[in-house]
Amino acid sequence: MLETDVIVVGAGAAGLMCAIEAGKRGLRVLVLDHARKPAEKIRISGGGRCNFTNLHTSPANYLSETPRFCISALKRYTQLDFIALVDRYRIPWHEKTLGQLFCDTSAQDIIDMLLSELSAAGGKLSLETAITGISKPDDRFRLETSRGPMLSRALVIATGGPSIPKMGATGFGYEVARHFGLAVVPPRPALVPLTFSDRNRDLCQRLAGVSLDARVSCGKTTFREGLLFTHRGLSGPSILQISSYWREGLELSVNLAPDETVLDALITARAASPKQELRTAMGRILPGRLADELAKDFGWNGRLADLSNKVLARVAEEVNGWRLTPVGSEGYRTAEVTLGGVDTAELSSRSLEASKVPGLHFIGEVVDVTGHLGGFNFQWAWSSGHAAGRAI
Ligand code: FDA
Repeated sequence: MLETDVIVVGAGAAGLMCAIEAGKRGLRVLVLDHARKPAEKIRISGGGRCNFTNLHTSPANYLSETPRFCISALKRYTQLDFIALVDRYRIPWHEKTLGQLFCDTSAQDIIDMLLSELSAAGGKLSLETAITGISKPDDRFRLETSRGPMLSRALVIATGGPSIPKMGATGFGYEVARHFGLAVVPPRPALVPLTFSDRNRDLCQRLAGVSLDARVSCGKTTFREGLLFTHRGLSGPSILQISSYWREGLELSVNLAPDETVLDALITARAASPKQELRTAMGRILPGRLADELAKDFGWNGRLADLSNKVLARVAEEVNGWRLTPVGSEGYRTAEVTLGGVDTAELSSRSLEASKVPGLHFIGEVVDVTGHLGGFNFQWAWSSGHAAGRAI
């Protein structure tokens, strides 16, 4: 029977980083994955160029039932540490916007770098390996796999969350946690487009493809980034970000002209050209197609001279504070990440080890730590993987 020091389940960002660090310390490490290829999510990330970290990473960029949990790992392996590794491999990269770092060429550069580090550290990779059972009969873990039973002193679960199931994503990590009596914060899709019903769905369909800069708020949380109308609803970075905070029944407020006080602009336009149609004036503030469709929806009619300040204020509010309530999200099919996961109250923030089950670690997306859009989720994968790899 195969026996080793560490088994890491999941050859994604977190699992590979953990295996590299554990291997460097002289431990015998085996990484198992049921997929045909490792790190498929890295490959497709960032539109194929992998937004591998963010220059401004801080604990404020993460959601968790225990917001301070991520501090320890993020502090001990920072964005600068990962950038230094990327630079050592001479991988060309650039900052796109808001501190987001992308590969110049391809996400495959990051995968090749991790596999090369794994091999240098002596780590082994076993792909297309299904795990059918996990137990801890003594101080070791026993895994039943499609390649036979395996024993290890430490077991690291790095199987990510269930988002994008067609890429091999599963809720396996939560099952393992529950099997060992650990709590799981209910998972839900995040960084995901939001959907609408009735009138707003029709409006989005008519506007599919239109994008603009917007400020989107839900409760006290606000993001200002791009917004995209789609056939199913709203997407784009500002919507993906707010989706992590939105819950069923909550309303969004969308400022479609965040640099403009629309009421002031309309009053000025009325003074300058009183005969101008309201629709025409709105077409100077918003993208033309959007102004036309909103005019139909909201009934923006008449010449400016004939419209009172009260009417203009209503129109301005429809643009600077458009209120709409999503009916749902596109779900795990398109969600970039999963909110919730293994409850951080069960884990050490230093080693990511379960306090009730010595030797069992959870890292990466499977843990209830979820980053904003912009490279923060990979940074959590690197930092938590590094922390566990150093602690095993
Ligand atoms: P990850 O999901 O990467 O790896 C888990 C591994 O476990 C997979 O290889 C899987 O096959 C394996 N596995 C699952 N179940 C198993 C089982 N039962 N048995 C064996 N193996 C199993 N983030 C970011 O910071 N920048 C970005 O640019 C992007 N872009 C992006 C685009 C898209 C389309 C998606 C879906 C996601 C992103 N993300 C992102 C998020 C990022 O990909 C994600 O947070 C990390 O990949 C999480 O890393 P993990 O290693 O935790 O899981």
